Amino acid sequence: MTNNDHSPTTNDTDTKSKKERASFLTRELKRHNELYYQKDSPEIEDSEYDQLLREYELLVREHPEWRTEDSPDEMVGAAPVGADLPQITRTEPMLSLDKALNESEILDFSGRLEKGLGFKPKSYYTMPKFDGLAVELYYKNRTLSLAATRGDGRQGENITANALTIKDIPTKLASASPAEEVVVRGEVFMDKADFARLNYAREAQGLPLFANPRNAAAGSLRQLNPDITSERNLKFFAYGLARPEVTGAETYDLAMAALKQWGFKVENSSFSGSRSSMAQVIEIFQSLSEERDNLPFEVDGMVITLNDLTKWSRLGTTARAPRWAVAAKFPARLAETKVLAINIQVGRFGSLTPVAIMSPVQIGGATISQASLHNEDDVARKDVRVGDWVLLKRAGDIIPDIVRVIAEKRSPGLLPFKFPTECPVCGSPAKRREGDAIRKCGNYFCPAKVQARLTHFVSQNALDIDGFGEKLAETLLSEKLVKIPTDIFRLTLDNLKHLPRMGQKSSEKLIAAINRARTAELWRFINGLSVPLVGETVSRLLAKHYKSLPELIKEFKKEEPQSISTIGEETVKNLKAFFNDPCTQDFIDDLLGLNIVQPQAQEDAVPDNPLKGQKFVFTGKLNSMTRQEAKRKIEALGAEFQTAISSTTNYLVTNEESGRSKKLLKAQADGTTIINEEDFLKMEKEALNGLGQMAVRDIFQLLVKS
Ligand code: IVH
Repeated sequence: MTNNDHSPTTNDTDTKSKKERASFLTRELKRHNELYYQKDSPEIEDSEYDQLLREYELLVREHPEWRTEDSPDEMVGAAPVGADLPQITRTEPMLSLDKALNESEILDFSGRLEKGLGFKPKSYYTMPKFDGLAVELYYKNRTLSLAATRGDGRQGENITANALTIKDIPTKLASASPAEEVVVRGEVFMDKADFARLNYAREAQGLPLFANPRNAAAGSLRQLNPDITSERNLKFFAYGLARPEVTGAETYDLAMAALKQWGFKVENSSFSGSRSSMAQVIEIFQSLSEERDNLPFEVDGMVITLNDLTKWSRLGTTARAPRWAVAAKFPARLAETKVLAINIQVGRFGSLTPVAIMSPVQIGGATISQASLHNEDDVARKDVRVGDWVLLKRAGDIIPDIVRVIAEKRSPGLLPFKFPTECPVCGSPAKRREGDAIRKCGNYFCPAKVQARLTHFVSQNALDIDGFGEKLAETLLSEKLVKIPTDIFRLTLDNLKHLPRMGQKSSEKLIAAINRARTAELWRFINGLSVPLVGETVSRLLAKHYKSLPELIKEFKKEEPQSISTIGEETVKNLKAFFNDPCTQDFIDDLLGLNIVQPQAQEDAVPDNPLKGQKFVFTGKLNSMTRQEAKRKIEALGAEFQTAISSTTNYLVTNEESGRSKKLLKAQADGTTIINEEDFLKMEKEALNGLGQMAVRDIFQLLVKS
């Protein structure tokens, strides 16, 4: 298969016969369906899939005889594969939704409704379309008896044990519900913040990352081990029932209200609700498109439903989808741009990372001009060449990623990118170890590595020296004022104050900060060594166990070091190599000369004052703690408890959404971040988990974005 087969508007359609194209699309759509639903590893963007399906639909509308038995426009997802999870078979299939790919298709939907009903509907219901997995929950006598994925509509997977670990899924319905059998439908998904947290932890453990929250949710739910599901903090929104009339409601909004009464979570932003005209529906769709980044979970469109349930049966369903609802999809966050260069970055441990430099393009409000190409194999697989046009997306809607080259736009004569076998910075051989995707510069004194190590040594996760950034590291090295990281302890005011952007005041401040770092905790020094695989967590373990740097060094200089059971073999190997390497001896001797003091029990304390410098104000009633307790929590995290909002306040914590509280009004006026008690408790939990200040802030940034 060539890349341009993905595109619906290539010359293919003109040259090959339409019939061939239809048969190609049949196979291709089936393959993409399986990649998406069974393997949780899609090859193309959802919007590209939608385009292919739309093209297929148009072809077979003209030539119904080309349809096959398992025609892709009638497929709903894909049947589960493998014998991992037990399967269930439904008598009543769980359907999909038809899609509207633009506003004119939304209007087509409303036209179809009008025609089918014989009158203009009085009311529609809109709800964000959550990007997770469809799940059906069976309740017998108000008790959860079975939970199943949609699968291909008829066959799904039995995920009851896993569903029981999801807090939003009630195991027992509230008494307001009917006694017999009810089947509730909804979406299991992962919040953006939980997704970021999960990938952050996986990266630290060297595990493969999930591509997006949907894949992470699928991987967490389609699991043989419910303990894993339970750790992942999956969420559930109910959005319907197999037979909504069991609620006694005559409209969709009342059915949703009933679900809420029974104990389900129903999405309740201003985007969910009934609308009295199509004009209003489109207005909501536009504002949801603009606001989607600010929601705490991923949405990929908006579901529009005829609000009057009593008319649904009159409209009926097709093989694939009901006629009374449509999924209006957002335009893709894709852009085409040209690759101007492929640069190679050299990391702290020598990894050569190819980075594509591109003509700047706008995607979803951000200007993008660079994207990592990850490693040598990735560049080769995607065959990205300098001068190529590429399809660019924002992966997980955040990180720019090159999807593929636009083959038909390639100019003749572009040469394949030749990955260097020498370090572009120092010229030393860059080698690949067997089974490793990454090529590395092996020169310990490569200027790029030296600079990255110095920057890391003073960074927040190591010695945390305020006012010492990448630029200063670069200057100090090029001025030869610093050669090894510990040289920073020899810097004088005279050395600093003549440097660009420094001056007397900032030099004095920096010297003071450097002096404070002399007594930083042991784990910070260990992390600052830059030993591969020894990050914050391992450094804390080592510090706790060995208590001092000389002890640690003594142990790992031995032929057979006695390590801690929680530290992996590869890490031990790296520590041994580091301390025995002639290249590191100056640095190690220098560190030993510093006589690092280790205050007693320091390692057991709350890690790293994770919220140091953050200022909080509380207002209104708290549910789970008193004001005094809140104050103690704040102080235990190293943050500051303020009594009034000022320009220095970072967060106002309140459960009130609106009201007359002066603090709330001032915070709103000042643009202070406003969070509720639940968010604050989440933030505390993360901080106590010891992820470190940077991680907590990264994650929190996502949490409070809404
Ligand atoms: S359906 C019953 N509502 O979209 C009235 N589906 O193609 C219509 N989905 O995989 C409500 N969010 O899991 C509905 N708010 C939402 C949805 C939603 C996500 C998914 C669903 C299915 C697909 C349908």
